[in-house]
Amino acid sequence: MKYPAFLSTLLLAAAIALPLQAQQAGDPRQGLSLARQVCYECHAIHPQQPMSPDHRAPTFPQLAATPGMTTAALTVALTTPHFGMPMFRLSSEQREDIIAYILSLRGTDTTPDK
Ligand code: HEC
Repeated sequence: MKYPAFLSTLLLAAAIALPLQAQQAGDPRQGLSLARQVCYECHAIHPQQPMSPDHRAPTFPQLAATPGMTTAALTVALTTPHFGMPMFRLSSEQREDIIAYILSLRGTDTTPDK
């Protein structure tokens, strides 16, 4: 009689997990707390910060506002080395969380046009 009980637990888990997954791959709140630890040193990570600590680094709201800055583009940016930016050892889950956070900032870029 163990098998049916296991099966219904599985179905219940799937029923709970599916709607969440449909919403978004990553968790933006986790992404924010992670960004505070690993990106904050160089990037402005929320809309209240007008400028990044490292002036060459785009702010996160600017990133979110960049045309073509999709999940795929951000994944590439975070998995390939580029100038001035260290390589991170992020799990794919952590990466998804940070990307979800960055994309949640769409429409918050208040930087005046230069
Ligand atoms: C040591 C400083 C530093 C840290 C820490 C850092 N960055 Fe950057 N990042 C930069 C600089 C500088 C640039 C601009 C690079 C350039 O223009 O070539 C950049 C560019 C980017 C870009 C744009 C890449 C592109 O192709 O346009 C993304 C996305 C990005 N950073 C995300 C992050 C995230 C997410 C984190 C935290 C996990 C992070 N960065 C941590 C310095 C940093």
